Amino acid sequence: MNKVSQHGQWSSRLAFVLAATGSAVGLGNIWKFPYITGENGGGAFVLVYLLCIFAIGVPIMAAEIMLGRRGRKSPINTMRDLAKEAGANPFWKTLGWVGVVAGFLILSYYSVIAGWAMAYVVRVASGMFEGVTADGVGSIFGQFVADPEKLLAWHSLFMILTMLVVARGVKGLERAVKFLMPALLLLLVLLVGYAMDQGAFRQAVNFLFSPDFSKLNSEGVLTAMGHAFFTLSLGMGSIMVYGAYLPSKVSIGSTAVIIALADTAVALLAGLAIFPIVFIHGLEPGSGPGLIFQTLPIAFGQMEYGAFFGTMFFVLLVFAAWSSSISLIEPAVAWLVENRKMSRMRACIWSGLVTWLVGIGTVLSFNITSDIKFFDKTFFDVLDYLTANIMLPLGGLSIAVFAGWVMTKEVTKEELNFNKPAVFKAWLFLVKYVSPVAVVIVFLKAVNLI
Ligand code: PFF
Repeated sequence: MNKVSQHGQWSSRLAFVLAATGSAVGLGNIWKFPYITGENGGGAFVLVYLLCIFAIGVPIMAAEIMLGRRGRKSPINTMRDLAKEAGANPFWKTLGWVGVVAGFLILSYYSVIAGWAMAYVVRVASGMFEGVTADGVGSIFGQFVADPEKLLAWHSLFMILTMLVVARGVKGLERAVKFLMPALLLLLVLLVGYAMDQGAFRQAVNFLFSPDFSKLNSEGVLTAMGHAFFTLSLGMGSIMVYGAYLPSKVSIGSTAVIIALADTAVALLAGLAIFPIVFIHGLEPGSGPGLIFQTLPIAFGQMEYGAFFGTMFFVLLVFAAWSSSISLIEPAVAWLVENRKMSRMRACIWSGLVTWLVGIGTVLSFNITSDIKFFDKTFFDVLDYLTANIMLPLGGLSIAVFAGWVMTKEVTKEELNFNKPAVFKAWLFLVKYVSPVAVVIVFLKAVNLI
């Protein structure tokens, strides 16, 4: 197999860990995790989510990185080559295709929400929230999302920023994430410190960590599992394509654990920062995608130096979204460069344009078309459901089956290179049996087949 990808290589293990963590940590942790936790009743949802991260997510992440490094190409071509190497059906390359499509669809709405975060940088910095009540903060958000032109402008700007970094290739990606992750973590800790002081911290801790299974239905379990894939960037080739740029000697297993731990820490900290504010102001935990935009500005409006911390927070959130969005489009760009012989720049322009266009559907679904629903879901809800709850778990399931059942043990053992044979055995057991069975059961339960 190839030693180095034609698209370049990470300069070190640290560079890979930072980039993969940059991909994993994003809006999923800070924007999505709190609001879906709120919608699904808290503790029990969080418990299922954590279980999915560590029992299903981590082994599949190791598998996905391994596939990427073994193939060293875009996910589509990697799957084609690896299927050939294993003597399997070339149809496996469809897995790469599903990933590319999922990446487009996710980025199309991801960019709209990242646009909200950018708009909030300006709003918090201008002191718009100083002394404003919870109701006021809520109505400012309501007015903002009702304005399609504003949302479109911010969405466009975010897409341009994303494509600029992707156009510069692996090196561009590396530089963008080095300082941001630690800074984001620090700021979150600070916000949790503030939230602890607000009087409803215990209530928030209880909400997040005491499971009450009567509040969780099978749809909620599917959302928890889907989010485990989403938050770790699994099942669509992002981590695979990053794995393709990983130097041969780096240990994959411990890297996957580090990424999952960092990702989980950020999500839980975000929950601990947001829910005390929700409870002390009597807000609705299940209010949906606007949750962080309706809660955190209250805190920034009231705390000392709030405008400064608030600005910093939203800037870092934008960066976190940025380092995730570049990984969403990289599989498509790598494929266009490999198979259509496009320059990286042209590949970026085309893929960016398509994503931007689809994103307009999401922009409108918060205002003009908010009443147009399929199965009670807006365009944005449909995209989110289709990608996070169906495409990513299916992608993850296929990766587990491919790594566990199709590839030979010799190849996976050599590529993963765990230092203890027992760790390899445990990994193989998890990807062969646990992950596929768990994903299938959750799917069947969600559609009421069992
Ligand atoms: N993991 C990112 C987040 O939590 O915001 C989103 C994401 C990036 C999902 C890349 C999927 C992906 F392939």
